[in-house]
Amino acid sequence: MTARKIFVTTALPYANGNFHIGHIMEYIQTDTWVRAQRMQGAAVNFVGADDAHGAPIMIAAEKAGKTPQQFVADIASGRKQYLDGFHIAFDNWSNTDSPENHALSQQIYLDLKAAGFIETRTIEQFFDPEKNMFLPDRFIKGECPRCHAKDQYGDNCESCGAVYAPTELINPYSALSGARPELKTSEHFFFKLSDPRCVEFLQEWTQDGVHVQPEVAAKIKEWFGTRTNPDGSTSTGLDDWDISRDAPYFGIAIPDAPGKYFYVWLDAPVGYLASLKNLLNQRGEDYEAYMADPALEQYHFIGKDIITFHTLFWPAMLKFSGRKTPTKICVHGFMTVNNGEKMSKSRGTGLDPLKYLALGMNPEWLRYYLGAKLNGRNEDIDFNPEDFMLRVNSDLIGKYVNIASRAAGFIFKRFDGRLGQVSEDGQALLAQLRAQKDGIVAAYEARDTARAARDVMQLCDRVNEYVDANKPWELARKEGMEARLHDVCTTCIEAFRMLTIYLKPMLPQVAADVAHFLIVPPEQFADVERALGAGHQIGQYQHLMQRVEEKQLDALFALPEAVVEKVTPGGEEIAPTITIDDFAKVDLRIAKIAECKAVEGSTKLLQLTLDAGEGRTRNVFSGIASMYRPEQLVGKLTVLVANLAPRKMKFGVSEGMVLAASHADEKTQPGIYVLEPFPGAQPGMRIH
Ligand code: 2FM
Ligand code: ZN
Repeated sequence: MTARKIFVTTALPYANGNFHIGHIMEYIQTDTWVRAQRMQGAAVNFVGADDAHGAPIMIAAEKAGKTPQQFVADIASGRKQYLDGFHIAFDNWSNTDSPENHALSQQIYLDLKAAGFIETRTIEQFFDPEKNMFLPDRFIKGECPRCHAKDQYGDNCESCGAVYAPTELINPYSALSGARPELKTSEHFFFKLSDPRCVEFLQEWTQDGVHVQPEVAAKIKEWFGTRTNPDGSTSTGLDDWDISRDAPYFGIAIPDAPGKYFYVWLDAPVGYLASLKNLLNQRGEDYEAYMADPALEQYHFIGKDIITFHTLFWPAMLKFSGRKTPTKICVHGFMTVNNGEKMSKSRGTGLDPLKYLALGMNPEWLRYYLGAKLNGRNEDIDFNPEDFMLRVNSDLIGKYVNIASRAAGFIFKRFDGRLGQVSEDGQALLAQLRAQKDGIVAAYEARDTARAARDVMQLCDRVNEYVDANKPWELARKEGMEARLHDVCTTCIEAFRMLTIYLKPMLPQVAADVAHFLIVPPEQFADVERALGAGHQIGQYQHLMQRVEEKQLDALFALPEAVVEKVTPGGEEIAPTITIDDFAKVDLRIAKIAECKAVEGSTKLLQLTLDAGEGRTRNVFSGIASMYRPEQLVGKLTVLVANLAPRKMKFGVSEGMVLAASHADEKTQPGIYVLEPFPGAQPGMRIH
């Protein structure tokens, strides 16, 4: 049989944020699958990229004062620490703004156009009258026309998965300004998904039991059915897909259409091919020839929120532009932490991948734990700290690592590190382990790593039962049992090696450490068929993995120390504390504004005549002319600092000061507001 040739991708993350645990879960799932394929001899190219385009990234870059390209590059530079940290080995990491992606996206579009799948239409689109731009779908929010969930984005509903035009949203609003968007016309390009050729192809492709999981196929089937539109009419089949956006937009220009760009979701999946092409170019291999091989398999791993794009739009784009369609779309569910519990006092809810690594927690604990939970179906999984600790400590340490630590010391100390003969009972045990190979390999193939982990742990139980039955620690103390001790410990080491091969896709670093300790080359699944054999020299056992400690999980989920942000109310810090006696020195009185007039030669000052119940009036100049016309103030009450030393000013003497509020930063937050007492206060009353 010739080796399988597989091209594998994970969903391309938007380049406007760091990875969160959901990304890491998908990458670990895919990386595990890729490693398992390689262990069966498949030639795999595993590529990723940043999804660079779209209005949100353009807007975020602008906010950050960077070009979109610089913004994306800065995000990209942060990727490696996560990928290396969790032993995720992409063969290439590119981005969708690459020259390869520009060229491929434009070519796919031109091919679709030539095949009659593109048409232009003048549509009405939402325009933000305050921001003066057409609103990107993500910046229009409103109620889902299908399931009526509130605050859904303009392109698809995160609650029911429906994909729709933003104009279908109920009670839309601009997320940029809050304004109610207006409809304006614009010419848009559409991919004719409603074309009967397309509908027929997709119905077959999604429902043939080959390309998507059954539960995903069932969901897609609903989209082909009849549905009720917001206006009460019904539609059947698929709607055409709007693939263009108007400038300003960070994206790929549509050929021969000035000011028009591909909608980000048109060029994002093309980014899979572009990253592959970029990789092959680096290696001096021919992309066209690689793709032309009919035996090439193409796997896309994605989350359940982007099924539509990958099971309708993407295969249709490929098919009708004359390209190879994907072999399989592998959909996983979401990951929750602590059952999605709300923030608790002692433990937060998020699992920050970098914090996990910074705490020195072993990445392979997480790889194993997620592997042990993922079963290849589109189901959500939960990270539960107690469960995590139990799985790692009892499975990995208690059952698996324990086998090596129990046997290796005797081999090293008593037999110069050389393996011996395995007698009949040992051979029978090893045969049991070998017999599970096909089942475990099939579980990996089906992404049912939960089953693979379960099967391997059952085999670990068999081996531990064998150890318990033979008690090497007792054999070691008994006269004349040397040969049996050698036999039992050799059996354990041979078994441990096989178990390591089975776990290797999930635990690549542990497997490498074991290979070093057993002095064997990197091994494939098929290597379980052989044994190391008598006389094989092994190295000294070094501890392979620590136990998870509760305090690590506590630290991982501990809320950060309350970060008291330095708040400066009104733009300035509160002045140093004073005593009540200090305050009593300031004599504040209610005063009536008897007269008020503009000051000739000053745009800032108003001249007030104040009655503070003293049987005389006072003359006060106040810098409030920008906010008040004199006639607005006459007759009003306000607050006067009555014992302030008189001040000689350019326009006369000011006998006190009127209280008024303003922000410290007059430039950005102008405005000054005169204080006015509640009704009932009388001129002359003191303020305490
Ligand atoms: O949902 C997302 O995060 C998208 N950036 C995924 C794109 S996948 C592929 F099409 F590029
Ligand atoms: Zn909905």
